[in-house]
Amino acid sequence: MLPQERIAQLTAELEQHNYKYYQLDKPTISDLDFDSLLNELAMLEKAYPDFALPNSPVQRVGGTITKEFTTVKHRYPMLSLSNTYSREEITDFDDRIRKVFPDGVEYVCELKFDGVAIGLNYKNGHLVQAITRGDGEKGDDVTANVKTIRTIPLKLKGNDWPADFEIRGEIFIPLKTFERINKEREDIGEQVLANPRNAASGTLKMQDSSVVAKRGLDCYLYFLLGENLPTETHFQNLQKAKEWGFKISDESRICTNLEEVFQFIDLWDKKRQTLPFDTDGAVIKVNNQNQQRLLGFTAKSPRWAVAYKFKAEQVCTRLETIVFQVGRTGSITPVANLKPVQLAGTTVKRATLHNADQIEKLDIRPGDWVFVEKGGEIIPKIIGVDLKQRDLFLSEPFRYIENCPECGTTLVRNEGEANHFCPNEWHCPPQIKGKMTHFIGRKAMNIDGMGEETIEQLFNAGLLKSAADIYDLKKEYFVGLERFAEKSINNLLAGVEDSKKVPFERVLFALGIRFVGETVAKKLAFHFGNLDALRNATLEELLTVEEIGERIAQSLIEFFSNLENNQFVNRLQASGLQFVIDESGKEKLSNTLEGYTFVVSGVFNKFSRDEIKALIEKHGGKNVGSISAKTSFVLAGENMGPEKKKKAESLGVKIISEEDFEEMIG
Ligand code: IVH
Repeated sequence: MLPQERIAQLTAELEQHNYKYYQLDKPTISDLDFDSLLNELAMLEKAYPDFALPNSPVQRVGGTITKEFTTVKHRYPMLSLSNTYSREEITDFDDRIRKVFPDGVEYVCELKFDGVAIGLNYKNGHLVQAITRGDGEKGDDVTANVKTIRTIPLKLKGNDWPADFEIRGEIFIPLKTFERINKEREDIGEQVLANPRNAASGTLKMQDSSVVAKRGLDCYLYFLLGENLPTETHFQNLQKAKEWGFKISDESRICTNLEEVFQFIDLWDKKRQTLPFDTDGAVIKVNNQNQQRLLGFTAKSPRWAVAYKFKAEQVCTRLETIVFQVGRTGSITPVANLKPVQLAGTTVKRATLHNADQIEKLDIRPGDWVFVEKGGEIIPKIIGVDLKQRDLFLSEPFRYIENCPECGTTLVRNEGEANHFCPNEWHCPPQIKGKMTHFIGRKAMNIDGMGEETIEQLFNAGLLKSAADIYDLKKEYFVGLERFAEKSINNLLAGVEDSKKVPFERVLFALGIRFVGETVAKKLAFHFGNLDALRNATLEELLTVEEIGERIAQSLIEFFSNLENNQFVNRLQASGLQFVIDESGKEKLSNTLEGYTFVVSGVFNKFSRDEIKALIEKHGGKNVGSISAKTSFVLAGENMGPEKKKKAESLGVKIISEEDFEEMIG
């Protein structure tokens, strides 16, 4: 088969599998087989870029970097809905509609998804642009990021779609995925995200679409706009959209009277806790589009639809004590121990208090009766104090701790940071144990036969004081330790030995440097190539690395200026761990670009930014992060930042296109 034919075949096949997996939830091949087909297509597209189809599934894995999102005008203003909070207000809405249509109308009741609004534009069956709401008139072009969302079709199925239309919906993060992200953030000492909605909007604005691809965003569509829509009613239009491959909620209902509308609301007010995503209400829409047109819009919202917001469930209970947790990076989190109480289907015993400011702002004191709410957040939060129940004579304002509850060290609070932290990173037990647990984790050194419990046990037995001790463990140390039979000791030691082969980028992640997560570790490892280059890098050099900002750079400088950290790393190095990148995969293609330095900027058609950078190196050139007079070329894709352009022009650095570059490397 010719490469062109194979590319077309793989594209169609993968699209079909994506649809079965994400829309129908009925995959017919294994993940492994899917990945191998996707890899084959990616390779072919790289070798024969001209044959790659627009919106190929390879784009799902991302790779484009957008430094600044371009602002674009919405074709139709992106309005919001007016909110209602009671049955009376919905009855008023229905009364207004009945004045215009005395015989009544058909409504569609839908879930109100709690995420970020998005407008998707399709031309000739292909996704061409995705725009955020912005101010309703203009929004940000987030197409590259949106293309990584698997449930959004890049190419539509069937052929009865209008040649040019827009569909709107809500991008969200499923609750399970949200929990996973927060766990990962905790691992690198980042503050957890407050709720799935913030997580979704933050993700949508990330610069690196390959990071977005891993974040697991999802999208429900709920509104079709355009000149030649397939049917006369909103409901049927969405059913059509479903046939074209969009994710449309199955929970929407046609209601012919208010009673049915209230039934829908009552049902979901109770059942929403069972959904795998957040909803904050219901939306009631007039179904017929002619009637919608007649009702029209106010300046802010359509007259033919209204939102009903569910009340967040709230209870009042007693705050028994405030305790403090010390994380792996020393970050202190105050936690409220509550008198157990039922809330939204679960028993709540604890609530996070976030930080000292939060406690002070709400003037929360142990012994208080507090209002607890479970809204968008998964972890219940305290939203206020019932002052009527406070004993004014006995109660005193709460004094935040000044010393670490675990090791007694005086706590520190950095300017601009909300949390206090314990700086005693090498001698504070939960920090040591937390660091070691992170070190042995699956994404880090992945030491078989060792888990959190083993760390706890070996730490308590005095055998492990830092992760470097793991490589000095010997069989005889385990004598007399519970849970360690001959076989499990052998397994553990074999796992330790095996971990010495773990590549540098994962070793770097395992070190547990604050803000250095998996992706950042990879970027640093590939940029610097080995530990010593990274260790000796200046702040300025660190800042030239893609995705590395002031905060990460500063954290690296701090890490490597600490004697104990360096001793720790040196011990690991002496134990034989990988501290140099494995170059075997970096084959040289030519020396054409030798002596030239490149700054790559913007979005490209045929390659991702990482691919272009790899090509530059494979042809002997060098990538640099910022433009200087020494830069040979600025390789500019679409949407290159205007600042960069100005700088290149003022320094007389030549700006070349993707095509020029292709010609250069032949
Ligand atoms: S329809 C012109 N339907 O809630 C009408 N919106 O507070 C367009 N939302 O702006 C909106 N679920 O971002 C519609 N089923 C649903 C929705 C929904 C969530 C969002 C949307 C809207 C906001 C209004």
